[in-house]
Amino acid sequence: MVDLPAFEQGRHLLSVAQFSRSSLAQLFGLADAVEPFTRRRGICTVLDGAMLGSLFFEPSTRTRLSFESAFLRLGGEVTTTTGFTFSSMAKGESIADTARVVSGYSDVLVVRHPEVGSVAEFAAAATVPVINAGDGSGEHPSQALLDVYTLEKELGRRGRAVDGCRLAVLGDLRHGRTVHSLIRLLCLYRDLDFTVFAPAGLELPDEVAQAALVAGHRLRTAESVVAAVRGVDVVYATRVQRERLTAELAPASGGDLLNRRHLAQADNLDVIIMHPLPRDSRPDAFDLSPDVDDLPGLAIFQQTDNGLNIRMAIFLTALGVSAEAVRLTTKQRPWNASLRP
Ligand code: NCD
Repeated sequence: MVDLPAFEQGRHLLSVAQFSRSSLAQLFGLADAVEPFTRRRGICTVLDGAMLGSLFFEPSTRTRLSFESAFLRLGGEVTTTTGFTFSSMAKGESIADTARVVSGYSDVLVVRHPEVGSVAEFAAAATVPVINAGDGSGEHPSQALLDVYTLEKELGRRGRAVDGCRLAVLGDLRHGRTVHSLIRLLCLYRDLDFTVFAPAGLELPDEVAQAALVAGHRLRTAESVVAAVRGVDVVYATRVQRERLTAELAPASGGDLLNRRHLAQADNLDVIIMHPLPRDSRPDAFDLSPDVDDLPGLAIFQQTDNGLNIRMAIFLTALGVSAEAVRLTTKQRPWNASLRP
């Protein structure tokens, strides 16, 4: 095993800015290579003896479970803590002390925390690689990686490339860290056309919009959701991040952010539909309606499935594991599994 810097500019994965088009392609190649393990066709024990420290100080279902599942499926072991209540941060322990302590128990750490910049602070005091699983409304690099991986696959199935495609991005663009990381990562591509639509007060931060323009993309704001989704190849919707809202920012409109009627009105029922999930299913939550679930372009569960491949690829990169080591530690699966289609 070679101790090379795992990601560009260091061994931690904190931001999508750590990727170039070629390192992104390398990571996606690794994500393809672990498909037998996500499909339960084979077993891999390449991380035998390695320990993941999983620290989630904000709610999570898919990010935590898919990171942990990815590590376990590569043969590693996992320790985990969730929420402030059950960690010593509830007793006032600093990020730096916590980071140093858990570094002693783990070979790699995955951290989610509600404050922007907190995971970088964690990484500065850690002695093992740290992966940012979301820092407040800052970044969520592993989600952007799985989103772009899914975009490549879904557009590819339609004979299209990501370069030159048209995307509508809808919802709480102000607080949605998945959107911030996604648009920044897509700056590695060419000639994209973004249409954004957000409730008043929840617009895309200027610096994210600027990054897209500097990369040579086009970005325009739509007046309505129907106008936003007309003529696009992909729609990416996000929930309103109520936990980050103050009373004056609560969106006035109830109903759906996006539903089948909007897509029919825009004459775009075939569009690829993405969402980082969770989808807020409470009445008037102003999110993606489940009435789009039987449309042919729905890709939200492809995203969650692809997340496992991407997170395995992230661990292999962070821990400097070669494709050859993976091959040598692969065995047949002696038990039955219901296989994903
Ligand atoms: C997102 C997150 O936590 O940023 N969820 C996820 O990780 N897939 C999106 C959200 O919470 O709205």
